[in-house]
Amino acid sequence: MSISRLACAGRLKSQVALITGASSGIGKGIAMAMADEGALIVVNYIGQADAAREVVGEIERKNTRAIAVEADVSNEGQVRRMFGKAIKEFGTVDILINNAGIQRDAAFDMMTLDDWQNVIDVNLTGAFLCSREAVIEFKRRGVQPEKSLSAGKIIFISSVHQVIPWSNHCNYAASKGGISLLMKSMAQELAPDRIRVNSIAPGAIKTPINKKSWETPEAARSLLKLIPWGRIGDPMDIGAAAVWLASDESDYVHGTTLFVDGGMTLYPGFAAGG
Ligand code: BGC
Repeated sequence: MSISRLACAGRLKSQVALITGASSGIGKGIAMAMADEGALIVVNYIGQADAAREVVGEIERKNTRAIAVEADVSNEGQVRRMFGKAIKEFGTVDILINNAGIQRDAAFDMMTLDDWQNVIDVNLTGAFLCSREAVIEFKRRGVQPEKSLSAGKIIFISSVHQVIPWSNHCNYAASKGGISLLMKSMAQELAPDRIRVNSIAPGAIKTPINKKSWETPEAARSLLKLIPWGRIGDPMDIGAAAVWLASDESDYVHGTTLFVDGGMTLYPGFAAGG
């Protein structure tokens, strides 16, 4: 059975989900999965207006509502304006998915300050700025028991590289390691406000960000050696996990990271070595 056929519609009914970087890849997968559960979706994007419009169209065909909002998540003013637009359109925000992320890969001694800064700005500072706006709104509104047991949910889309070191990707791994303790510290601080905070750590999911690792048969073969489950992930694998983590089914799950990686963090090289 395909992942999408497992969906049981309505688990996020009438909740507003703001998903950063939702015009493609994992963000789009999460947008579709949440729309299937009745959520209203704010599709954040940067630069890809046509793709974002298409995502909005696909969501509307699922009989829920969506708007596309362009914003650079690393820009404080743009993030504030994005939340303002979302709240004006839909009344509030219930779920934030900090998904926007980039890679600027380079050997350590060739890595420019721009490569470093851009990745930290989008992946880590962007998640901070969006989370801060979400928390302000969650605290203002409080719990609405008819919608959810929480005043709000924040889900970081981290990576297996919050724990697996990654040569030639030091900026990216550092940003994801940073997310790990940002998420836990926020979870500790915000529990009294009924704000539930967690991460999902995807492994290799077939999206534009890692095209080089799966587009040729040789690349895909070498990638599969790192995945005990024997397949490359699909954005809907992450969508399904995000729906569950945002729904009240996971009400007692707080401050944790759910690895959705086909076993990549089992260090499969040790199956025949060590
Ligand atoms: C990266 C991908 C990579 C995967 C597994 C992700 O966080 O963005 O490029 O394929 O981790 O290494």
